[in-house]
Amino acid sequence: MKILVTGGAGFIGSHTVVELQSAGYEVAVVDNLYNASPKVIGRLEAITGKKVPFYKVDIRDREGLTEVFEQEKPDAVIHFAGLKAVGESVRKPWEYYENNIGGTLVLTDVMRKCGCKNIIFSSSATVYGDPAFIPITEECPKGTCTNPYGWTKWMLEQILSDLHTADPEWNVVLLRYFNPIGAHKSGTIGENPNGIPNNLMPYITQVAVGKLEKLHVFGNDYDTHDGTGVRDYIHVVDLAKGHVCALKKLEPGSGLSIYNLGTGVGYSVLDIVNSFEEATGVKIPYVIDPRRAGDIAECYSSPEKAEKELGWKAENGIREMCEDAWRWQSMNPQGYGD
Ligand code: NAD
Ligand code: UFG
Repeated sequence: MKILVTGGAGFIGSHTVVELQSAGYEVAVVDNLYNASPKVIGRLEAITGKKVPFYKVDIRDREGLTEVFEQEKPDAVIHFAGLKAVGESVRKPWEYYENNIGGTLVLTDVMRKCGCKNIIFSSSATVYGDPAFIPITEECPKGTCTNPYGWTKWMLEQILSDLHTADPEWNVVLLRYFNPIGAHKSGTIGENPNGIPNNLMPYITQVAVGKLEKLHVFGNDYDTHDGTGVRDYIHVVDLAKGHVCALKKLEPGSGLSIYNLGTGVGYSVLDIVNSFEEATGVKIPYVIDPRRAGDIAECYSSPEKAEKELGWKAENGIREMCEDAWRWQSMNPQGYGD
C-alpha cells in the first residue's frame, strides 16, 4: 500500500514517514517547504535506510499535484500540509483560510479525479474550543474556536465529513491531536520553529540551549492544581504511530471515523518545567506573565476510543518526551540550520 504524505517534511509528517516506512508502507512526500527544511528528506532516509520520494509541490498547485498522483498512484493520503501558527492566523486570516481550506479543496478534488478517496486528516483538539467536559471524548461537541487557524480545522472536518456523506466511497479519518512534543530517538529530526517559538516545549528547549533567556509562563491564576494551564502532551513518535494504526480505518466501507490522539494525562506548565529539569538536569528560569489571549485552563483527552478501535495507545511518558526534545535541540541548536 502506498501513502502520499502531504506536509511530510514538517514536524509530525517527518516522524510519520519514519513509522510508515518501518511498518512496511511505501511512501511519497509532497511539501512546499514553506515551514520545513529540504535536509529533512536525507535525514529520514538515514533513519529508515529507504528512499523517500519527495516532490516540492504546493498542494494548491492543481497541475503539479495531479502529476504527483499520476506518477505515484497512492492508495491513501495522510494530510498534514497546512499553516499552524495560532497568533499569525489572527493577523493573516485570509492566508490561513486560503492555504488550509483552499489547499485541501484542491487536494481532495485531485484525489477524487485520480480515484483515491482515502484520507487521514490532521485535526486538533482546538476544535473542542473550551471543552464542554474533561477528559474530552470524541462525543464532546465541537466548540467555538478562538482563532482562524482553529476554524480551518473545524471547517475542514465538516468539509471532509460532507464529502463522505455525498459519496460514501470516501473513507475519512479525522485525528484530533492534543499537544505533540518530543522528537525521534536519533536526535536527527524534530520540531524546527521559525523565530521565537509559540509553543511551550520548543520555548523551553531554546531556553535550555541558551538561545532564550527565560520562559514566560502565561498565567498562574487558572483553576488548575498549580494555577498554570494544563495540557495533554503526547510524544510525536506515539502520535506518528497513531497514523499507522488509523490506516486500518481506510478499508473499503469504513466511512467516517474520528479519534483523539492524546495520552489522557494532563500536565501543567510548571509540571513540564519540573519534568524537563529532572529529565535533563538543565535549569529553566521562568517568570510569571499575564494569561495569553485565547488560552483555556485545561485540555486533556480520553484516548479510550483509539485504544479500543485502533489498538493504539501512547507508550512514552513525560520523561521520554523531555529527554527526546532535549536530545534534538542540543544536537541541533540551530534546528536544521537553514
Ligand atoms: P509543520 O509546519 O511542521 O508541518 C506542516 C508542513 O506542511 C510543513 O512542512 C509545510 O512546509 C507544509 N505546507 C504548508 N502549506 C503547504 C502547502 N500549501 N503545500 C504543501 N505543503 C505545505 O507542522 P506540524 O506541527 O508538523 O503539523 C502538521 C499538521 O498537524 C498541521 O496540519 C497542523 O495544523 C496539525 N496539528 C499540529 C499540532 C501541533 O501542535 N504541532 C496540533 C494539532 C494539529
Ligand atoms: N505556555 C506558556 N509559555 C509559553 C508557551 C506556552 O506558559 O511560552 C503555556 C500556554 O499558556 C499553555 C501551555 O503552555 O497553557 C501550552 O501552550 P502551547 O502553545 O504549547 O499549546 P496550546 O495548547 O496552546 O496549543 C497547541 C497548538 C495548537 C493546537 C492545540 C491543541 O499550538 O495548534 O495545541 O492541539 F490546536
